[in-house]
Amino acid sequence: MLMFLGTKNALGIDIGSSYIKSVLLKEAKGSYELEQFDLHSLSPELIVDGSIIDSLRLIDSLKEMIKKSRTSTKNAVISISGHSSVIIKKITLPEMSEEELSESIKFEAEQYVPFDIDDVSLDFQILGPKEDPGQMDVILVAVKKDVINEYLTVVKEAGLNPIIVDIDSFALENMYGINYEIEPDKNIVLLNIGASAINMSILKNGVSVFTRDSSLGSNIHTESLQREFNLSYENAERLKRGEPVENVTQENAQTVIEAASEEILTEIVRSLDYYRSTTLQEEISEIILSGGCALLPNFVSLVAERAGIETKIAEPFKNIKKSRQIDSVYLEEIAPMMAVAVGLAMRKQGDR
Ligand SMILES: Nc1ncnc2c1ncn2[C@@H]1O[C@H](COP(=O)(O)OP(=O)(O)OP(=O)(O)O)[C@@H](O)[C@H]1O
Ligand SMILES: [Mg+2]
Repeated sequence: MLMFLGTKNALGIDIGSSYIKSVLLKEAKGSYELEQFDLHSLSPELIVDGSIIDSLRLIDSLKEMIKKSRTSTKNAVISISGHSSVIIKKITLPEMSEEELSESIKFEAEQYVPFDIDDVSLDFQILGPKEDPGQMDVILVAVKKDVINEYLTVVKEAGLNPIIVDIDSFALENMYGINYEIEPDKNIVLLNIGASAINMSILKNGVSVFTRDSSLGSNIHTESLQREFNLSYENAERLKRGEPVENVTQENAQTVIEAASEEILTEIVRSLDYYRSTTLQEEISEIILSGGCALLPNFVSLVAERAGIETKIAEPFKNIKKSRQIDSVYLEEIAPMMAVAVGLAMRKQGDR
């Protein structure tokens, strides 16, 4: 969506605040094959609140990742998330054609977007007619132009050719679409928890009916560990990955991590309650958990327990063939972090 700036087969690049993730897929006879993937850690001060603070170092990291990669593909699909720069809203409008809405979207969107309408890039998707005759549901998307431009500039400076700028939660929906059977009338929650953001998206019949981004993430685990044990950022990150750190046992680390999880769990439960309250208490069948936070031992069961909903760790490569050169042991370990990148890698020029 939003922008089409080049041609053909592309690298999906998820630029998160703590890791850049890239995925390259090959499509043949309606199925996907994984050609390559990569994960590259970033210093935590390069991207803050979804905004690029140190573009030079981010460009260097991207260049390094490209250099390592075995592909000559320069076309890239990137994404943006974050409640401070992206607005996604389901709105009801009088029935009209796609062309008509293209003409009037700016006018229609104005009352729903808390920024100057000229400062955002707008897009929409018509969800089909409502029960009320003459009305239709539309997903409205508004992204701050300056944020899109920050990301585009960085990606171009790194030598890539960005062809689409997507939204994290839409990428997750695409990832879900290829890997999971759509269960009629069930509400499925896609929950992506990274270092500094939560993207929640609720799907019904495979279509998004609710999205919410919040600026909480697994950084709160890192910060708690740093505070509690007086550690550097790097050592706290090591502890999260289960690696040994001097003078701190995994058991003590786990206690601190679980206490810090409370804030995230409360936020999740609050969002689910909000969804239920706006939909006459619809039942939610399942939560699919992705993002680095899903790798914390026990986190998935904490979510299941607190939400009271069956929760599974996302398998973004479930239905994707792996080419021979893929390190499938490593892939398995980090798979939940790659969910957004997989969704991005599925996008093709000309998609909406
Ligand atoms: N093996 C692991 N065990 C536990 N936590 C991990 C592991 N690997 C990464 N993490 C944590 O996951 C987070 C990174 O996840 P992810 O890559 O999904 O975030 P991001 O996309 O960079 O961030 P965001 O989208 O929030 O800006 C970090 O907080 C990191 O500490
Ligand atoms: Mg992320």
